[in-house]
Amino acid sequence: QRTAALIPAAGLGTRLGQGPKAFVTVGGLSLLARSVAALAPLVDEVVVALPDGYALHDLNLPGDVRAITGGATRQASVLALLQASEADVVLIHDAARPFLPPSVGEAVKAAAAQTGAATAALPVADTLVRQAGPNLWGQLTSREGLWAVQTPQGFRRELLLEAHRAAEKSGIQATDDAGLVARLGLPVALILGDARLFKVTTPGDLVLAEALARLWDA
Ligand code: C5P
Repeated sequence: QRTAALIPAAGLGTRLGQGPKAFVTVGGLSLLARSVAALAPLVDEVVVALPDGYALHDLNLPGDVRAITGGATRQASVLALLQASEADVVLIHDAARPFLPPSVGEAVKAAAAQTGAATAALPVADTLVRQAGPNLWGQLTSREGLWAVQTPQGFRRELLLEAHRAAEKSGIQATDDAGLVARLGLPVALILGDARLFKVTTPGDLVLAEALARLWDA
């Protein structure tokens, strides 16, 4: 079975405010370069979706990596990536999650090849509350049985393509791919993820990422 890592990296990084997020560096390496380096050993090919006007040679990436231009949304970028690969099994991974422990990537890939769809996720540790109004405590929500969804997410490529086409048809926009597969009524395996897989989103996350990079690269 041929495998591919598909990396949506076409976001503009609006919340971080430092230009396209995939190109932001921590510990001297871009978020995208870190994600590519983590995934390349697990798969036969790596394809990344970049913002319009950006190219890979700006990035100093390891190994054999192809780039395409992403879309206006993450979902559109992933659909373009799916259409750019012929792999049987694909691992979709946010460039914005640069610290992927190899064991998590392996476990997601194995589960996806076996069951069709799997995602890294973490049981929620914090107490959860829905706000009653701006900055006002409202309804407490039990965290029992709740998971926070991460990437990588692994799928048989044909299955995820079908899920994307169905979403497009019904005008659904989702923030991840496993959710689109679940909408079809199909099972998605939850694979225990890792705190280090947090998504670099805010300036505070960047401080964490800088600190973690020192340990990761040591
Ligand atoms: O914006 P957010 O942090 O949710 O983005 C998650 C991932 O999706 C990032 O790696 C980002 O580069 C990617 N993305 C994309 N195309 C877009 C928007 C986001 O590839 N249009």
